[in-house]
Formats: sequence, structure tokens, C-alpha cells
Amino acid sequence: QESSPKILGLPLKYVSLVTLAVQNAALSIVMHYSRVFTPPSQAYSPASAVLLNELLKGGISLVIAFIRVCNASDAPWSQRPLSAANRLYREIFSPDCWKLSIPALLYVVQNSLQFVAISNLPVATFQVTYQMKILTTAAFSVAMLRKKLTPVKWLALTFLALGVGIVQIQSGGPPKKEIPVGSAHDLAPMHFMNPLKGFGAVTAACFTSGLAGVYFEMVLKNSKADLWVRNVQLSFFSLIPAVLPILYAPQTHNSRGFFLDLFRNFGGWAWATVATQVFGGLVTAVVIKYSDNILKGFATSLSIILSFSASVVLFNFRITPSFVLGSSTVLAATWMYNQPAGQEMPPIPNVMMT
Ligand code: C5P
Repeated sequence: QESSPKILGLPLKYVSLVTLAVQNAALSIVMHYSRVFTPPSQAYSPASAVLLNELLKGGISLVIAFIRVCNASDAPWSQRPLSAANRLYREIFSPDCWKLSIPALLYVVQNSLQFVAISNLPVATFQVTYQMKILTTAAFSVAMLRKKLTPVKWLALTFLALGVGIVQIQSGGPPKKEIPVGSAHDLAPMHFMNPLKGFGAVTAACFTSGLAGVYFEMVLKNSKADLWVRNVQLSFFSLIPAVLPILYAPQTHNSRGFFLDLFRNFGGWAWATVATQVFGGLVTAVVIKYSDNILKGFATSLSIILSFSASVVLFNFRITPSFVLGSSTVLAATWMYNQPAGQEMPPIPNVMMT
């Protein structure tokens, strides 16, 4: 793990973890709002959102990588852009670039499953069930990265899953009517939710998330290639699986061509969803580089608490004792996991020595 640079005097490692927690909470709310409270005839295409996400993320990563190569170059200023472009091209299409095709495909599948899940489950249920990726990530980290987890860390992970489960108890029972704020309570969800489909999608997404994240970490930490170059490679390989569903989508009778269809019904909420996803993708990459996937899991479980609180304000959600108990368990597990090795338990005073 590389030493973390600082941002405004704070270690980038922690800044990125906190930013990711806030971004996760924001994404589930914005995405849910954009999908569920829109009449089906005005719904945007999730496939377009997945493609735009990759195009924007890849574009931003390319610009950052280009600036970094330019700055590192010792060529005269006038020749830097050309030599940087040449070097970047060689780095992006390096012999090992194919390795990124695997997480790229997994992430496209995951990002698409996320739309299915969020469109069929209440925000809180989705957010909580999706935290099961913590356990899949830990299992893949141990299997593929040979990470050693102490019994205390395994216990913390189990508590985390337990806390997540307890929070979920409150979202069971008969479905509640969601009412978005500011709608004078007359705007009901315009989309019929199918919880079984939602749970299936979220379970599959937990597996792709664990596998893709750990695979990306393995590629990143086992080579010297720059993070932003790896991100460009990831987005590049995502383009094919992201474009295919759009090309092979059943043609509507009033198709207006590929590009106009791509942006059909893309209003403010759709763009907000894509922007939050792009930002999240970039922060995730920084988190994987300077922390690891398991810590990423803890950061995002803290986002449950944020998104639940927001759901109370925005969607008329009620806080129950199980929410308080579950969130406290999640917080305690986070604290427990982050105890430095050897300090997990308070030392027992040795009375014989005194
Ligand atoms: O849920 P999870 O944390 O696995 O989601 C990771 C998200 O971050 C995915 O949407 C994926 O597309 C994105 N990502 C990214 N660039 C990376 C790693 C992940 O955009 N280098």
C-alpha cells in the first residue's frame, strides 16, 4: 500500500474514505428518485447512463493522466504535449492492458444490476442489502490477495453483516408508501416495484462488486502503472459491454438515431445520477489505491446511516429501534476492525508485576 499524499493537510486516504461514504448515500437517493418517481413513458435508459458514466470517467481520467505525464516530462515545454501523448498512448495500450477487461466487464454488469435493484427496492433496503458486498469482498481479498485477517477482524466483519441485517429488519413487513418531499404528497411512485427481482439483482451485484474490486486492487498494486492510466484502461474496456445493450435494444417505433436515443428523457435527475456515479468511480479508485477494498466496505456502510437519515427527511421513512441498534452495531464493528494489530483488546493489567 502506497503512502497517502495529503489534501488540505489531511491524509488523502481518510478524505477519500469519508467522501466515498457521502457519495454512496447521495447516489442511492438520487438514483432512486430519478427512477421511481418518473412516469415510465419519461424514464431514461439505464444503459445510456452506464455508457455515459464510463465515457465521462474515462475522459476525466485521461485528462488527469495527461497532465501528470506532461508535468513529469523533462522535454522542452513546446514539445511536452506531443511527447506526453505518445507516452500515454504506449502506457494505455501496454501489453498488460487486457487485464483490465475483466473488472471492466464485471463493473458494467454491476452498474446495470444496480439500476434494476434500486428501481425495485426502497432506498434503505437496497442500501443495506448491498452492504453484503463487505463479506464477498473480504472473502475475495483473502482468496486472491492472500490477505490475512485476524480473528478480531473476522469478528468485526461478522458484526458488520449482523448490524446490516438488523437495520434491514425495519424495512421488512408490508411495503410503505413512499412520498417524495416537496410534492405536496400527491406524487406517488410511478413505477411498480418487484422486490424479488430487486433482491436477486442486489445479490448478484454483491458478487461482482467483491470480485471486480479485489481484481482491480490486485492489478493496481502488483504493477507500477499509474492509477489514472489504469482507470482509462478500465473505462476503455467497459465501452464494448456498455454499448452492446444500446445497439441491441429493441427498436422503438419512433427511434431518432443512436445519439438522440442515447439522451432520450435525460433530465436533471438523470444527469445528477450520472455525475454522482462518475464522481464515485473516481473516488473509489483513489480509495482502492491508498486504502483497500475492505476499508472501502466500512466507509460505505457508514453511508447507510447517512442515507437512512436522508430518507427520513426526503421519503417519509421512520427510524425504528432496530435501525438504532443495527447502526450502533455497524459503528462498533467499524471501530473494532480499525484497531491496530495487537491493540484489539484493552491490555489486562499484570498485577503480579506491580
Ligand atoms: O459498489 P462498489 O463499491 O463495488 O462500486 C464500485 C463502483 O466504482 C462501480 O460503479 C465501478 O464502476 C466504479 N469504479 C470505477 N473505477 C474504478 C473502480 C471502481 O469507476 N477504478
